[in-house]
Amino acid sequence: MFSRVTTDDLLRLRDIVGPANVLTPDDDIEPYSHDETEDFVFPPEAVVKPRSAAEVAAVLRLADARLVPVTPQGARTSLSGGALPVFGGIALSLERMNRILEIDAENLFAVVEPAVITQVLQEEVEKVGLFYPPDPASRGSCTIGGNVAHGSGGPRALKYGVTKDWVYGLDAALPSGEILRTGGKLLKNVTGYNLTQLLVGSEGTLGVVTRATLKLIPKPLLAKTLLAPFPDPVSAARAVTRIFRARIVPCACEYMERAAVQAAERRKGEKFPCSDAEALLLIEVDGNREEQLDAEIETIAECCVACGAPDVYPATDPGRREFLWTMRRSIGEAVKALSAYREEDTVVPRVRLPELVASIREIAARHGIRAIGYGHIGDGNIHVNLLKGELPDDEWERRLDPAVRELFERTLALGGQITGEHGVGFVQKKYLPLAYPPHHIELLRTLKRAFDPNGILNPGKVFPD
Ligand code: LAC
Ligand code: ZN
Repeated sequence: MFSRVTTDDLLRLRDIVGPANVLTPDDDIEPYSHDETEDFVFPPEAVVKPRSAAEVAAVLRLADARLVPVTPQGARTSLSGGALPVFGGIALSLERMNRILEIDAENLFAVVEPAVITQVLQEEVEKVGLFYPPDPASRGSCTIGGNVAHGSGGPRALKYGVTKDWVYGLDAALPSGEILRTGGKLLKNVTGYNLTQLLVGSEGTLGVVTRATLKLIPKPLLAKTLLAPFPDPVSAARAVTRIFRARIVPCACEYMERAAVQAAERRKGEKFPCSDAEALLLIEVDGNREEQLDAEIETIAECCVACGAPDVYPATDPGRREFLWTMRRSIGEAVKALSAYREEDTVVPRVRLPELVASIREIAARHGIRAIGYGHIGDGNIHVNLLKGELPDDEWERRLDPAVRELFERTLALGGQITGEHGVGFVQKKYLPLAYPPHHIELLRTLKRAFDPNGILNPGKVFPD
């Protein structure tokens, strides 16, 4: 159904973005053939690197007329295959559109191009005392455009919300070659349907974000961190709800099973405190008043001890805190390096967490698959890595899908969903019918057709085959 990229297409693409910004398989296109999802490799037929919204729109208009598939790419840190060019075609890399256009310290908004690295934006706004909280583990390399496309989360989502809560306006190029502008520096705006939030999390299937207007807030002056070991995952999960019942909203509450921590230790060659505990919570509070944070840390410590933590370990100095967070952020890659794997991204209402963490162990054991859990337990979001380990290929293939299905069915039965922050993308699309009934998926397809009638934008994603 799709066309191949022809020599004539390449000429026209070079006209649009300049000859140096079109790569073909004769060049080094390997980085554009994969993201960070398992070992998938799908080489594009051309890599195109526009510098402006007008260039993005012109590339889309050409691709639409020619029925060439287009896979938008930021930094390709996706964990669900969202940036894989599964049908070849054009990999549309936004990497050259990486300018912070404005930090508006009066209105408290930033206006950025899509390829601004998330951490770079954070550091720039922090220089003027402001704060952009969303902090995916990959924040040092992922881009705002990718975060918008995936509706990315991160540890601080617990107190501050996920990317969607900070996006107030978008420019998005459409396959028609038009540029849609939604929202702006407006805290209130109910003019028509909320297309900003339809685009957030649409995984590059509706439009290509060329500019984002993001809300900022004043940066809290202080943060304090505490590490608590637990004898088992269920006790750790119980401590989470207890902390909220004690009227405390931490800015982060992360969960790490022993195997996750030990994988990070091996990868980093550094020792993590209490790494022999079955489960750990890494909890942080932030604010402006030292006494208040000290009191909150004390209450949190009491909650943890009441739920079975033998002791707790505050990390008050900045170096120590940064060390703990660097170790935490390295877990994803460390666990994936252990073996071939499938990464799931379960999310449930917070009070169902003890059931979720118990279910993960029980289901994995019954299917004879090793599972390692870690993640953002404070907001109900647990990453589950199923590891192939020493299983022969055919056993792994035979066991994996039933185990994933059962994990998702249990998650849904707990009032949860099949992905909290990694997206449906390529690897979870066959499970979408577990999450939604047919009329729901049909409505999603109708929306997709309204934006992208020929289906050229990031095909092979989100929707089941
Ligand atoms: C993390 C990524 C995998 O939480 O979402 O580390
Ligand atoms: Zn995560």
